[in-house]
Amino acid sequence: MTVKTVSVTAFEGQKPGTSGLRKKTRVFMQPHYLECFVQTIFTAIGGAAGKTFVVGGDGRFFNPQAVQVILAMAAAQGARRAIVGQGAVLSTPAASHLIRLHKTDGGIILSASHNPGGEDEDFGIKFNMANGGPAPEAVTEAMFAATKTMASYDILDAPDIDLNQIGQSQLGGMLVDVVSPVADYADLMETLFDFNAIHALFAGGFRMRFDAMCAVTGPYAREVLEARLGAAPGTVVHGTPLPDFGGMHPDPNPTWAKELMDEMFGPDAPDFGAASDGDGDRNMVVGRGIYVSPSDSLAVLAANAHLAPGYAKGLAGVARSMPTSAAVDRVAEKLGIAAFETPTGWKFFGNLLDAGRATLCGEESFGTGSDHVREKDGLWAVLLWLNILASRKQTVAEILGEHWADYGRNYYSRHDFEAIETARADAMMAELRGKLTSLAGTQVEGMTIAGADDFAYTDPVDGSVSRNQGVRILFDDGSRIVMRLSGTGTEGATLRLYLERYAAGPDGLAQDPQEALAPIIRAAQQLAGIEAHTGRKDPNVIT
Ligand code: G1P
Ligand code: ZN
Repeated sequence: MTVKTVSVTAFEGQKPGTSGLRKKTRVFMQPHYLECFVQTIFTAIGGAAGKTFVVGGDGRFFNPQAVQVILAMAAAQGARRAIVGQGAVLSTPAASHLIRLHKTDGGIILSASHNPGGEDEDFGIKFNMANGGPAPEAVTEAMFAATKTMASYDILDAPDIDLNQIGQSQLGGMLVDVVSPVADYADLMETLFDFNAIHALFAGGFRMRFDAMCAVTGPYAREVLEARLGAAPGTVVHGTPLPDFGGMHPDPNPTWAKELMDEMFGPDAPDFGAASDGDGDRNMVVGRGIYVSPSDSLAVLAANAHLAPGYAKGLAGVARSMPTSAAVDRVAEKLGIAAFETPTGWKFFGNLLDAGRATLCGEESFGTGSDHVREKDGLWAVLLWLNILASRKQTVAEILGEHWADYGRNYYSRHDFEAIETARADAMMAELRGKLTSLAGTQVEGMTIAGADDFAYTDPVDGSVSRNQGVRILFDDGSRIVMRLSGTGTEGATLRLYLERYAAGPDGLAQDPQEALAPIIRAAQQLAGIEAHTGRKDPNVIT
């Protein structure tokens, strides 16, 4: 086996976004494209020599071929060992766990998360650090810088290795360890939750539906829920991962997990429903006849986490991304613990988790997690809910109702305007940014604007500063509008409009969120001129 040095011309636009590099699959499939980006990863981390990496992906189209390329490049560049999920598959949280469990130098994860998969859909790649978490901005910036001067890469000229058998083999000088993608992760879950109590809940007739959306979580959910916790066979639906996710859009929200929503609001609904995304880090939870918004879910989990053995000693603190509702802040206040507000993207939670300053983290985009790994974790959130349901012996609706009665309700919604022309979206944001300083004290829709800014974050652990993280317009009654452009899309621009209004109760806690937020929605249209700029009056996804 020989090492080939391949000369290349640098590709334009290999810029990591909110979560790694995402492009159309065919872009990744063009000769040298993937290889160049893998080379920039190794360059940005000071080379691969002597290092151990975890490698795996969510099983989407091109995943197996990409893993072979990464292994051949790692072997050519002197890596010591690669730990690979069987079949080249690892959910994102399971990859994060393996990086930590084996104290490796990091991991390369192949996924475009909740974006559809297939030859004509999306693909992605990201690097996670030795702490198990996504590379911070300084590292992704170093990668982007390296993409611009890319001139050659080294790769081993070797036949593909069999990744379907668990066991060890040699690729050049590198040891390849093919491991079960599920076992270690499932063991970790057993250390955090009261499996006996959840087992007893299912044994008592509690019914659940878990929609894996033909994506990576199927085997994890089957092992944990059905095999270890005794949920009825068939609890997990769409449980076989497929390269194109069976044509499903594996984004667990009411729009894309409609089948689950219909069932949970239907006549013979199970007690509890949940769905996960392409790579297993997102979750949606639904009770019988009641939807739990991700921001509320985070707040309920924070208020009740002590009921699970892994969190019995209480939480050090909580963290949420800026656009996520402030519902969890109210819980933190009552618990007397710190609440952090970070920019969008899981990478910003890493330092807080590593420093022991936050235990639970969450984003409004169906992401919840804790310090057990350094990624958000869909199945973990579902298990914490199950532990709480088993312990409180109440329904989801009762738990949510009591939560709102205790803390008040943060009405919340996100409106997505997808595939807008990039130039128009940029012009709209530029115009809005231009008038931020003049907004305070003015009125819109009968509400007074208390302040407006572009969110900047100073990391309390390492002092790094991240600017331009989203426009905030804050009203004097605590309501707010947040606007930012997505950093994960692969087509044009996506405007994310986040809307929030607080109702203290006891009256007005049972409104429809879109109705409760109607004046704020109108205010956003007026202030940003969304229709005038983009030609779009209504969003195409509402969560
Ligand atoms: C989206 C979500 C964000 C999440 C990211 C990765 O990013 O909004 O919360 O961390 O996906 O799952 P965006 O497209 O908004 O940049
Ligand atoms: Zn994901």
